[in-house]
Amino acid sequence: MLVQWYPGHMAKAKRLLEENLKLIDIVLEIVDARAPKATRNPDFDALFASKHRALILNKSDLADPHETKKWIAYYEAAGIMAMDCVAVSSAKRNRELELIELAAREKVDRLRERGIMKTVRVMVAGIPNVGKSTFINRIAGAARTQVGDRPGITKGKQWVKITPYLDLLDTPGLLWPKLEDEALAKHLAFLGSVRDDVLDVEELASQLLLLLMERSEKALVARYKAVEPGMDGAELLQSVAKSRGFVLSGGVLDTERAARIMLDEFRAGKIAKITLDRVE
Ligand code: G4P
Repeated sequence: MLVQWYPGHMAKAKRLLEENLKLIDIVLEIVDARAPKATRNPDFDALFASKHRALILNKSDLADPHETKKWIAYYEAAGIMAMDCVAVSSAKRNRELELIELAAREKVDRLRERGIMKTVRVMVAGIPNVGKSTFINRIAGAARTQVGDRPGITKGKQWVKITPYLDLLDTPGLLWPKLEDEALAKHLAFLGSVRDDVLDVEELASQLLLLLMERSEKALVARYKAVEPGMDGAELLQSVAKSRGFVLSGGVLDTERAARIMLDEFRAGKIAKITLDRVE
């Protein structure tokens, strides 16, 4: 059902990624803190195996802070350095720099111990819409300077010098989501990481409303006054339409409009701070 990435797209993204991997020492993999499992493709563990890696749980302003802590502990226990981040303009600056320095520290220290003063090169990677470009732009900002093309670096690659010993690749590595697990694929759809035009939005919104009722009843009722516990998905969606006065001629509730608005509001974090994926 959730077809978005075709074999051709994946092959191209993978080729570009492998090309960039040759140039870098450290990969910062960005995931959405609301779905730290669904927005990650486990295949990349193998692809990035030879690199120093860190996982950034971005958009943590939209997630449940308690669940974010649990996910960080989960990944740390699995031997993956994991850190939270908020990469929007309103957030504290320099967090991005701090994260890169933390991720690079071990590698830099090891090189220094061996007397090597080489610049360490970092790439940001992740599936679409997790905030890769925002992250890079916040750190690169106006001070963007081109330090490539250097010998051995593919022509046209732009590097941003962020400290005297750290360069960041200006272009993020594009990864693709794994859609085989139904439940995780649904979480991607809730977040808008799967194109809505290939989905039944009313069905999607109904399912999300049921989940929100279970996880965050108070916030849902506060936002859409007509919703009540015990309703099924279709009734919840009708109640959203009723709450907003979305009525078509003949008095029929406009549930399609309600579905789109509700999904938008959820994705923008207007309903509640909710983490969809749960640590098992
Ligand atoms: P990508 O490169 O991984 O595809 O993602 P991109 O940076 O384009 O970010 C996708 C959306 O997520 C953007 O919103 C961006 O502002 C938002 N975003 C990125 N990081 C954070 C974060 O830490 N917290 C929150 N709340 N939002 C974040 P957009 O609606 O697509 O565009 P716009 O609102 O920036 O114009």
